[in-house]
Order: sequence, then C-alpha cells, then structure tokens
Amino acid sequence: MKRIGILTSGGDAPGMNAAIRSVVLAAHHYHIDVVGFYHGYNGLIEPEYVQQSKVLTLADVNGIIHCGGTILKSARCPKMHTEQGLQAAADTLAAENIDALVVVGGDGSFTGLIALQAYWQGQVIGIPGTIDNDLAGTDFTIGFATAVNTAIEAIDKIRDTADAFERAFIVELMGRHSGHITFNVGIACAAEQVLSFENFSPQHATQTLVTIAKEIKQAQQERHSSYIIVIAENLWQGGATALAQQLQQQGIECTACVLGHIQRGGSPVAKDRILATKMGVAAVQALISSKSNIMIAEQHSAMCHITLAEAIKQGKLVSQQLVDAQQNILALTAQTQC
Ligand code: F6P
Repeated sequence: MKRIGILTSGGDAPGMNAAIRSVVLAAHHYHIDVVGFYHGYNGLIEPEYVQQSKVLTLADVNGIIHCGGTILKSARCPKMHTEQGLQAAADTLAAENIDALVVVGGDGSFTGLIALQAYWQGQVIGIPGTIDNDLAGTDFTIGFATAVNTAIEAIDKIRDTADAFERAFIVELMGRHSGHITFNVGIACAAEQVLSFENFSPQHATQTLVTIAKEIKQAQQERHSSYIIVIAENLWQGGATALAQQLQQQGIECTACVLGHIQRGGSPVAKDRILATKMGVAAVQALISSKSNIMIAEQHSAMCHITLAEAIKQGKLVSQQLVDAQQNILALTAQTQC
C-alpha cells in the first residue's frame, strides 16, 4: 500500500475536513501518500479536475479541523451512473497508481463506490459523512451532530419571536427522506409538534391538518403561547410553506421558515470532529489490513466495519424509542400545560 486516493462527495457535512486530516495524518504515520481528488467523483472523471489532484501534505491539513465544508470541494456526479464515467474514474485511479480509494459521503456516494469495483481492482472504503444520519450500521454519521445543533440554535431564536407574537411557526428541516434531524431537533427545542416520516402518512394529510389547527387554536387560547411545528423536508406536499398557507386559511397566524443549507455549514461540534478523527484512522488501518468494500462505522462507541451494500441497503430508521419519547413528552405537556 503506497498511495491512497481520497475525495468528498455529495452534500458536504461539517467534519469532512476533520476526516480528511485524520486520513492524511494516519497515512503519513504508515509512510503512505494520500492523493486528494477535487469536486467529488468529478475529480476522477473531468480532465480539468483530474489535473488538480495532488498529494496532500501535512501542511495542507493543518488548521482545518474546525472548518466546515470540505477543502476537497464536493459535488454530485451523475456520470458515476454511466459505464463511460465509471471507466474514466477507473482509468484515472490506475494512471495515478492509486492502491485504495477513500470516499467521505453518503448513500449516493457509496453506490458509486460499489459500482466502481466492477471497473477497478483497488481497495475501496467509505467514511459516512452526511448530515442526514441515514446510513445503516453506524450510530451516527459525520455532520449530523453539528446540523442538529445548528438547527436548535436557529429554532431557539425563532422561539423568541414566536413567543413575543404568540404566533405559530412551521420550521422545515433537512434530512432528505429521513427524520433523524427532525426528531432530534424537535425534542431538543420542545417543539409542540414533530411531523416526520415515522409519524405521518400522506393519506392522512387532511385529518392531520384539522388536528393541528385545532391544537394550535386550543394552545393559543389556553396558554397564549408560541407554537412550533418542526417538519421534515419532502414530507408535506409543497413543504412548510404550503402547510403554513393551509393553516392560515383556517384562521391561524402562522409563518413558515425553511432552514435549508444553514444546516450543512459551520464549524463542526466536538462530537463530529472526534468521530471524523476516529473514522479516518480506522479507515487507514482497515486498508492496511487489506479490507475493502466496507464503510467505517461506530456502534456503541466502538469502531467497526459494515459492507457498503449493508450501509445503503435500507435507510436507518429513527428509533422507536425516540419517536415514543417525543409522543410521551407531547402528551405530558398537554396535560400539565407547561
Ligand atoms: O444529503 C444532505 C442534504 O443536505 C439533504 O438533507 C438534502 O435533502 C440534500 O442534501 C440537498 O441537496 P442539494 O444541496 O444538492 O440541494
């Protein structure tokens, strides 16, 4: 093992830089070069990006652990779904004498990594970097903790205005098709309602709307208070804006707020920096012990390996315990009116 390639792919996540740093430092310890490829898989396919690739020095990764985004840039890469794109990526890896490729990303990125193996014989390892926390086999993905904290900070501020005006807010959170961010943020912000894939079905949208409208009116009459609903993106037709309009039509003063990409940025919290550092070291050690086709994972605070196929097979569900906890808290709050 002489040369490891590394790229970051898909939605950037806070902590990706910490992972790059960790891979470079660990590889340096074992006298292995790390070649950084820029702009996700495009860095292996598009000539203008291929020529940007370079061996990452210790200086390149100095002072980046606290930075959001990714020094290697990121992108989605539709060409990785084509034979031509996969072949071009394989040709670049061969031309650069890469023995193993590390990809920091989410399920789309790992799908590419699985497909690449039909065209290239080197070792491949995934490091889970996505705010969505939707990869199976790992308790947490890099970036999730920071995204949750960022959303909490934003909603705490929204709460001030909501309280001052005794107004309802619908806050839409990221997560693609998973509710991890929504449920965790909802609980941490004491949201009056959490609407996510685990507790809502589109067939019951009309009924849900009637119930929510009734509850908001009741809460505002009895407690003269704010009312915050957190809702997962891609859940309600038309999103938070449509839901807010539908509630306004029922006479409820209501504002939609789509938090959006603010959740992807910012300095990673300690949890993400530490997770990324542990995973980077584990990735290099796994490669040295000839492992391939795996994602580095953490279960109950211990590093482990999951096959890439397992990691993306079925999006990780929000635990029933968390869903129940939110339901129970909601019921208790209604009873005690606090
Ligand atoms: O996967 C990360 C994520 O931020 C999702 O939560 C979101 O649905 C998606 O990426 C947004 O992607 P883009 O920035 O390409 O619009």
